[in-house]
Amino acid sequence: MDQSSSLSRIDWVARSCRLLAATAAEFRDTRPFAGLTIGTGIHLEPKTVALLMTLRAGGADLVCTGNLNSTQPETVDYLRAQGIKVFATQTRDPEEHGASLDAILAEKPDLLLDNGGDLFARAADTPYANLLGGTEETTSGRTRLIPMRDRLDMPILVINDSPIKQFAENKHAVGQSLFESYLRFTNRSTNGKRVTVFGYGACGKGTAACFRNAFSTVSVVDIDPVTTLEAHLDGFSTPLREVAIRSADILITVTGYPDIIAATDLPLIRDGAILMNGGHFPHEIDAEGFRNSPDVAGTDRYEAEQIETVRMRDGRTFHILGGGHMANLAGPRPLGNTIESMDLGFTLQARCLERVAKGGLGGEACVIPVPADIDALVASAYLDLAR
Ligand SMILES: NC(=O)c1ccc[n+]([C@@H]2O[C@H](COP(=O)([O-])OP(=O)(O)OC[C@H]3O[C@@H](n4cnc5c(N)ncnc54)[C@H](O)[C@@H]3O)[C@@H](O)[C@H]2O)c1
Repeated sequence: MDQSSSLSRIDWVARSCRLLAATAAEFRDTRPFAGLTIGTGIHLEPKTVALLMTLRAGGADLVCTGNLNSTQPETVDYLRAQGIKVFATQTRDPEEHGASLDAILAEKPDLLLDNGGDLFARAADTPYANLLGGTEETTSGRTRLIPMRDRLDMPILVINDSPIKQFAENKHAVGQSLFESYLRFTNRSTNGKRVTVFGYGACGKGTAACFRNAFSTVSVVDIDPVTTLEAHLDGFSTPLREVAIRSADILITVTGYPDIIAATDLPLIRDGAILMNGGHFPHEIDAEGFRNSPDVAGTDRYEAEQIETVRMRDGRTFHILGGGHMANLAGPRPLGNTIESMDLGFTLQARCLERVAKGGLGGEACVIPVPADIDALVASAYLDLAR
């Protein structure tokens, strides 16, 4: 043995992002970002580091900030140690976050990599000449930027609107990470458990499949009859909502809408049931409504586990994981979606930025989906590595 070394999670993630590593190797030759500065506003956590280092391999100067409430100090330290300029603090304060966004734009980056539209919305208000365009990661960012198209008038490619992102992350990765989170929070079995999944969109499909594969009996409740028919034909039971709640040992919401399980459902919830949410906002399970119900005698909290037990006056108890926040980003050691799904999504990011840097796209490409040839390129590259 020559040498051994002690490595961090950032190293583990970087070495697991094989597609980004291959892209970085190509970028070292092609240097698509030579002479350009990229301003980024995306969660500063280990998976993002792999993307940022790929952009730097392509010759980019980077100025980076994060999003509200998700900046990991170890990641910031790591990036700074690599000589990357970071303006970010772990904060829930929009003003403090706004100051970081302003600091990024004061550097007048040529390209922006945005997550939620924070940077582009500011650039629409205070335009500067050398901004070529960039990328937006999310649906919410797309919705925010569409009304600003006239003012932005530059290519902005929306990563969420790629079929790869839809099936690699929303379908497969969210299902897996919600399943992993159930085990991580509870250390309880899934075998023989009756699971009800609310919402059979991309995220619900993956979730239902993962629990079925783990020997649970899974039912699906969706408000849309066509989607419910799809669940039925996929082999899931599709009972009426009341029946589904009454029978479930595990209730999972992944709809994107509020009050999917609310205080009015308290009479239906089975003794011992576990409730968890995978939707973006912590409003799908009305935990506050439960606490305030006259039918509830009290609650107990397992602080370190982030499990709350609701005690009903009639003697039943049930448990809520992570206060109803996205379970895969809550609780002890939350890891989020799989590295491979982010490797794919972030390679789409790198390729889209490369496309914008090349020029050739104009204002007609303002807030549009990932071009189909980039989807094909990324899919082929991933398959090549997998063969
Ligand atoms: N946890 C994560 O890492 C993660 C990742 C991606 C997306 N998300 C979030 O997951 C949620 C779902 O995303 P998606 O891509 O599957 O959305 P989607 O729009 O594809 O699917 C949502 C489904 O919920 C159904 N629905 C709506 N109201 C309902 C109700 N009252 N009862 C039952 N079903 C109802 C809809 O008919 C639809 O089929 C969103 O909030 C999204 O932001 C989370």
